Amino acid sequence: MQYKLVNKFDKDFIKENIMGPNPAKLLEETLALYPLQAGSTVLDLGCGRGVTSIMLAREYGLRVFATDLWIAATDNFKRFTAAGLNREQIVPIHADAHELPYAEEFFDAAVSIDSYQYFGLDPDYLGTHLLPLVKHGGKLILLVPGFRKDVHENLPPELLLSWTPEALDTIHDCAHWRTVISATE
Ligand SMILES: C[S@@+](CC[C@H](N)C(=O)[O-])C[C@H]1O[C@@H](n2cnc3c(N)ncnc32)[C@H](O)[C@@H]1O
Repeated sequence: MQYKLVNKFDKDFIKENIMGPNPAKLLEETLALYPLQAGSTVLDLGCGRGVTSIMLAREYGLRVFATDLWIAATDNFKRFTAAGLNREQIVPIHADAHELPYAEEFFDAAVSIDSYQYFGLDPDYLGTHLLPLVKHGGKLILLVPGFRKDVHENLPPELLLSWTPEALDTIHDCAHWRTVISATE
């Protein structure tokens, strides 16, 4: 794929501000398949340093509430201002995904890239905390890292150099999640 929008970013800005796999590429790929209507109000949940939030506001013309726990709202505000965005286009919020300070049905869509696995594993999370905030008929775009095939029974020592087994338990293959989902239905 040609990443026309991602390539507008300064490469060093991307390197300095992403917190895992390049979320800007993941966003551009995903919105090519599942577009969001310009002017929509969007929650970017677990936005980190706001790379995807900047892209949603600047390139897609969405009104973005850039929400994160580990990164201070003031840091993101400075980054958004430096990226040329104003407070009508993008609002930095510091909040825990379990205590989101938004009205029910406020958002046209919610996006969460490489973060849902940190707070959304409880089967009740989605229905209790996130879905109520998205209007009826709205969109959810949740992208999480995964294994092609689970390795949890026999974790390679190389992975354990930088991950704990508990952290790796947030990452699974599709077969695992199908089992989890069918158990909650
Ligand atoms: C790996 S980073 C990804 C950040 C960003 N989406 C990106 O791709 O660069 C995971 C993010 O999830 C956020 N996060 C983890 N637990 C959270 C929670 N309970 N509520 C809100 N955000 C949370 C962290 O603050 C962190 O910025």
